[in-house]
Amino acid sequence: MDSFEWNKIIGAVLGTAIFIFVVRLVAEAVYEPEKPAKPGYTVEGVVETPAGGGAASAPVAEVVPDFGTVLPTADVADGKSISTRCEQCHDISKGGPNKIGPELWNVIGRARATNPGFSYSSAMKAKGGTWTYDELFQFLHSPGAYIVGTKMSFAGLRSEKERIDLIAFLRTQEDSPAPIPAPKAAAPAPAAAAPAAAPAKAAPPAAPPKAN
Ligand code: HEC
Repeated sequence: MDSFEWNKIIGAVLGTAIFIFVVRLVAEAVYEPEKPAKPGYTVEGVVETPAGGGAASAPVAEVVPDFGTVLPTADVADGKSISTRCEQCHDISKGGPNKIGPELWNVIGRARATNPGFSYSSAMKAKGGTWTYDELFQFLHSPGAYIVGTKMSFAGLRSEKERIDLIAFLRTQEDSPAPIPAPKAAAPAPAAAAPAAAPAKAAPPAAPPKAN
């Protein structure tokens, strides 16, 4: 009986050790795609070309989509399912608690680092400004690259569509959803590129219906 107890204890200790080991491996794989040579000295916007060369991951500024065009057709349901990844650390509901990360109700249009009661990193506080569609889109691509020093340890969403869908969903989690901007004139619509031989008269882009 005693030895049975000991077996359980040793098993639990070993199990925990293995679990921690695996979690660390996974975390390293997920959160550290590349180690900067000089951590903490990264200057935003400066692209270094190391002599060793061949780094495929030089940060290339991403083209931000025209949210006036992409939001009305975004897949909000898809965004809702993607948001479960955020909910490990964030409560998104109105009046929800701060968790590992701040509560995200009303986040679009919210001044950065201002959710009451949450202790933000100095990097997040120093960035200033508000969470616009464009900012969220860039931040969520690679949080640690967009705000160097953030304590949001999330690798990011590579997929542009996933980020757009997620932002469209977050927009519904607001007291009054942030307005959808008017589509830009020559918007590079992802789906429908106008055929070259289209008739001269270009149809004006339809005003987006108020989604949700
Ligand atoms: C591993 C935990 C974790 C995950 C997963 C996570 N976040 Fe965060 N998030 C944080 C933390 C911690 C902060 C505070 C960062 C700081 O102060 O530097 C934060 C901050 C933010 C902020 C800034 C909020 C403000 O009030 O200024 C936004 C926006 C945000 N997260 C969105 C998201 C979204 C959207 C997802 C899902 C794609 C997500 N986060 C996933 C932990 C997480």
